Amino acid sequence: MTHAEIELSKTIPHHVAIIMDGNGRWAKRRNLPRIAGHKAGVATLRNIVKVCATKKIEALTVYAFSSENWKRPGSEVSRLLELFMTSLKKEVDALHKNNIRLRFIGDLKVFPANLQTQIAKATKKTERNTGLQFTVAINYGGRWDITSAFKRLAVEIETGKITVDEINEALITSTVSLSDVPEPDLFIRTGGEMRISNYLLWQIAYTELYFTDCLWPDFNMEEFNAALTWYAGRERRFGRTSEQLKQARHA
Ligand code: IPE
Ligand code: IPE
Ligand code: MG
Repeated sequence: MTHAEIELSKTIPHHVAIIMDGNGRWAKRRNLPRIAGHKAGVATLRNIVKVCATKKIEALTVYAFSSENWKRPGSEVSRLLELFMTSLKKEVDALHKNNIRLRFIGDLKVFPANLQTQIAKATKKTERNTGLQFTVAINYGGRWDITSAFKRLAVEIETGKITVDEINEALITSTVSLSDVPEPDLFIRTGGEMRISNYLLWQIAYTELYFTDCLWPDFNMEEFNAALTWYAGRERRFGRTSEQLKQARHA
């Protein structure tokens, strides 16, 4: 490893969270149907998962379908569901062979039974894998996530398992999704929009936010490396001053 690579590897994020946006525009520019963009997006995701595993990033969480995406035309929604199903079937063995743990977050109850079965199978098959913790958010919304946590905690209070005084940030963190992976260090949104679109609201309180105009199907290793290099240059102060951090480094 070169000196620059060693420096970079020290500041590699533990957890990367991505909003994979821009598939539709990618297809439109090529006069292709939107689903062609989504298919190209699956190929991009396959590469990025591989890169994350190689770089020993602990966790990758991607936004594949938001709770708001049901508002899209029915034909696009049903083709997306088909694509989830076929991609899942196609990819799960390779993920498993590479020691990748695959999980899903979101309100999965609404999906067709065969997709739910496929999801449960893939989750079960890879549950003991200790490599990359790969999570796909489908029918996910940050507000849904927090609301569900509220409800679970309310039940625990109602049934006497906990008291109101026991509610604190740590308990909420362990009740929302992704409680068993570190909080995202780096958030990436492709496709040029600078918004969070109801993604991980609680979990990204101190995440570094990276936005790029690159459309998701074009997001390759160079683009990803550019995001990692940008991340490596951030000073994560968590409320402290720059001087305090320097002092702590030299202590
Ligand atoms: C993101 O790409 C994929 C999903 C939301 C499923 P889009 O489909 O939002 O692509 P644009 O934003 O229309 O280009
Ligand atoms: C966010 O993308 C959700 C996913 C990438 C799955 P959208 O393209 O749906 O976001 P908005 O609605 O334009 O903000
Ligand atoms: Mg979009």
